[in-house]
Amino acid sequence: APTLGQLAAAKGRYFGSATDNPTLTNAPYTAVLGGEFNQITVGNTQKWMYTEPSRGQFDYTQADRIVDFAQAHNQVVRGHTLVWHNQLPGWIDTVPAGELLGVVRNHIANVAGHYRGDVVHWDVVNEAFEEDGTRRQSVFQQKIGDGYIAEAFKAARAADPNAELYYNDYNIEGIGAKSDAVYNLVRSFKQQGIPIDGVGLQAHLVLGQVPSTLRQNIQRFADLGVDVAITELDIRMRTPRDATKDAQQAADYRAVTNACLAVTRCVGITVWDFSDGYSWIPSVFPGEGAALIYDENFGKKPAYWAVYEALGGT
Ligand code: G3I
Repeated sequence: APTLGQLAAAKGRYFGSATDNPTLTNAPYTAVLGGEFNQITVGNTQKWMYTEPSRGQFDYTQADRIVDFAQAHNQVVRGHTLVWHNQLPGWIDTVPAGELLGVVRNHIANVAGHYRGDVVHWDVVNEAFEEDGTRRQSVFQQKIGDGYIAEAFKAARAADPNAELYYNDYNIEGIGAKSDAVYNLVRSFKQQGIPIDGVGLQAHLVLGQVPSTLRQNIQRFADLGVDVAITELDIRMRTPRDATKDAQQAADYRAVTNACLAVTRCVGITVWDFSDGYSWIPSVFPGEGAALIYDENFGKKPAYWAVYEALGGT
């Protein structure tokens, strides 16, 4: 049978998974990771706390292992992420306001420069907006101001002119105040000639709650002249699983896949790891989980087969 990666490729897309370093030594895990997907996202170890643990000191040891794995398996790499308010090293808070833009530029020049030619898509800025569409009051927003996002994209373009540069966020899958804010950001960047190539819809979704405006929202971003990717898909439920919930989850995964396939500029889908045994959900949402397409033992769930069929598998 074809893999999800092969089926997606036949439709000019990718189907990928995020991964993290601890699982790279788990043979049953890497057999699926390397065999099933044609795209990989670096789930943790390209974040600032790992890549620049002290100011001006860069460390790519862990992230390089994931990039090497992807290249060995002919998988496209999404870099994640250059500027985010979370998983920052402690020293960032001590940088004087007048120096922080230079620090951001230097970080991007180094990290995106190191991965130049290896990372195909970069999540340049991650989660910069609040639910109401106002700017999140991150250290970057507070010390640099509104312009930090544009500056980050310019620095990323300079560091790797061929990488596809994305703005990435959650709860922007449907039309609403937060996705409107991202839409307005992208529109203004396009008007001003600030480089941006795509919008990542993370899609950390809840069982039975795929936004009804998902396809329409993907289309409106595409109509601005940027690509769209589903970057961190998972669909969580109250655990334990049962057949009813599994069937709903399969329908939800099918709906997300179909929404992407309906828009030419939706370039691919990435699940936020692929097995329920390796998901971030249970530790952050107690009592919830079973959000992915493989079970803890790497068995294919109904959600897997829904994606498989939506991608044209028979
Ligand atoms: O590496 C340490 C380990 O040494 C230590 O023993 C352990 C004890 O807590 O922590 C480990 O670090 C954890 C790290 O993941 C690696 O597993 C952190 O505590 C934990 O907070 C961190 O969580 C990550 C989370 O981002 C941080 O916000 C998740 O793995 C990662 O999947 C998640 O990914 C984010 C995306 O980057 C952005 N979108 C949302 C998504 C889900 O939160």
